[in-house]
Amino acid sequence: MILVSGASGNVGGELLRQLRTEGTAVRALTRNAARAGLPAGTGVAEGDFSDPRSLTKAFSGADALFLMMSGNETAVLAEAARAGIRRVVFLSSMAVDTRPDSFIGRVHREAEQAIAASGLEWTFLRPGQFASNTLSWREQLAGGDVVRTPFARVGLPAIHPGDIAAVARTALTQDGHAGAAHSLTGPEAITPVEQVAAVGRAIGRELRHEEITAEQAAEQMSAHMPPEIVAASLEFLGDPTDAETQALPVVEKVTGKPARTFEEWARDNADSFR
Ligand SMILES: NC(=O)c1ccc[n+]([C@@H]2O[C@H](COP(=O)([O-])OP(=O)(O)OC[C@H]3O[C@@H](n4cnc5c(N)ncnc54)[C@H](OP(=O)(O)O)[C@@H]3O)[C@@H](O)[C@H]2O)c1
Repeated sequence: MILVSGASGNVGGELLRQLRTEGTAVRALTRNAARAGLPAGTGVAEGDFSDPRSLTKAFSGADALFLMMSGNETAVLAEAARAGIRRVVFLSSMAVDTRPDSFIGRVHREAEQAIAASGLEWTFLRPGQFASNTLSWREQLAGGDVVRTPFARVGLPAIHPGDIAAVARTALTQDGHAGAAHSLTGPEAITPVEQVAAVGRAIGRELRHEEITAEQAAEQMSAHMPPEIVAASLEFLGDPTDAETQALPVVEKVTGKPARTFEEWARDNADSFR
């Protein structure tokens, strides 16, 4: 049985759906089952990474774990090993490779090091920017047809969280990925201007992009993100390294299916914007 953390989120939610569709035994981990909005019929266990003892029940009977970053990996994996979990697939970040000294690169690298030291069989997924980050535009779209972002013409190969999930599913259910770190992107670089147009096509509205400054964006983001994440995200979005702008073939290599475009992600998630 596979235990999926983050099952109420973008990647874990897709992973849960894919595993259930293929008939793999799966259990979802959440801090609050009543609020998680998981599909009916899902096996659910409550637990919190910040309190490893709360995970004992959730881990019991699981062979493999899809793990989200918590900063508490050493204690969480000690508990997982005690429960008999053998394999862990960790949702890390491309920043481990491309900007190791940034806040995001450092915390994910430290998590990877703790996982590698746990003695469990591990695979790291290191995606770049998620297509689902654009869900943060929903508030603006509720108020009109204009989306305001900084860095209007900086293109990044945003990835469909369903493709990260597909790589996770492969690494969790098949052999051959132990000790691998998979860097993951979408199939092409796409700018905020192009993303706004794609969301508009998906929801049948004529949307307009307006550029704001990085300072204005930082002010908006600070309402719901810690300052070090705001600064690191804006650096990544506005001044990507060459490696961060390159589309990589890894999703297709691992899963046998090409990575999906942002246009496809927007169509798949049109209802979330309505
Ligand atoms: N967004 C990007 O562009 C990007 C790029 C590279 C890497 N990443 C990595 O991907 C992660 C975000 O993935 P996502 O978008 O799929 O997640 P998400 O939609 O933001 O959801 C976060 C999930 O984590 C779970 N969670 C949070 N704190 C927890 C805790 N203390 N104990 C147990 N579960 C906890 C939540 O579960 P409940 O609320 O149900 O408990 C929720 O399902 C980032 O944190 C980063 O590590 C993101």
